[in-house]
Amino acid sequence: MNAQHPNDNEQAALWNGRAGRAWIDGQATLDRMFSAFEDLLADTVRNASARRVLDVGCGTGSTTLAAARAAGVQGECLGVDISQPMIAVARDRAEREGSTARFVGADVQTHAFAPARFDLVISRFGVMFFDDPVAAFTNLRRAASAGAPLQVIAWRSPAENPYMTTAERAAAPLLPDMPVRAPGAPGQFAFADRHRVASILQESGWTGIDIQPIDVDCAFPEKDLVGYFTRLGTVGQVLQDMDEATRRQVIGTVRAAFDPFVHADEVRFTAACWMIGAKAPAHA
Ligand SMILES: C[S@@+](CC[C@H](N)C(=O)[O-])C[C@H]1O[C@@H](n2cnc3c(N)ncnc32)[C@H](O)[C@@H]1O
Repeated sequence: MNAQHPNDNEQAALWNGRAGRAWIDGQATLDRMFSAFEDLLADTVRNASARRVLDVGCGTGSTTLAAARAAGVQGECLGVDISQPMIAVARDRAEREGSTARFVGADVQTHAFAPARFDLVISRFGVMFFDDPVAAFTNLRRAASAGAPLQVIAWRSPAENPYMTTAERAAAPLLPDMPVRAPGAPGQFAFADRHRVASILQESGWTGIDIQPIDVDCAFPEKDLVGYFTRLGTVGQVLQDMDEATRRQVIGTVRAAFDPFVHADEVRFTAACWMIGAKAPAHA
């Protein structure tokens, strides 16, 4: 089960390196920004009366901890993530909270989960980074018990998410070497095409596939905006290697481009996402 795909090392290196560090540093802002998604998935845990919950690409663990609270004392919630530093933060948080949630550092595409173990599989933005999504979702289907639901959230297209693309649009003229997104390649918008997502799930053996658009209001304090875009996303990554003068110029330009989203001391935007639902087959 150690087969490596050509890009696995790239994603593993990213999330165990810069991207992981950026998410750890920005954890408080990100968790506040995305709290509505956490609430949606915690409601799913409650509505499904799920006990054994798997949170895929759990990062620093906020959604897993919320799932554990929703599952109650009988709950057994496991967060899985390829990023060892993010998993270490998640474990610390669980310990501090006295949570029953547990965490494992592993690649979802190849990890040997116990078969038919989980009665619900959830994820907040943790399923778009697989080099081989069919391998990952087949592995998750095997880890799900007969008839268990999958409920994961992913981004719709960049065009439908102007807030999420503001930094790179504004910075593009100043950073001509900024990497360009390839449609469908592992990354934030890899699941933008719902037909592709449906065929990945179908090919992976999931049934009852139901993909619905959701538009979710997000907000966070304006004082955290510069910290957010200088750490996260493509611009955040590229800025790490910039000289101070260019950095200052980019920060000024990008900050001004975010003005339409700033309302007094708050940043507000609508996140255009998919709520992706499916079920493991009733009989394996
Ligand atoms: C955008 S972050 C979301 C983190 C978390 N779900 C949240 O909402 O805070 C994506 C997460 O997917 C994880 N990830 C990427 N590829 C993975 C893989 N092959 N197996 C497990 N986790 C993976 C990353 O390490 C990262 O923590």
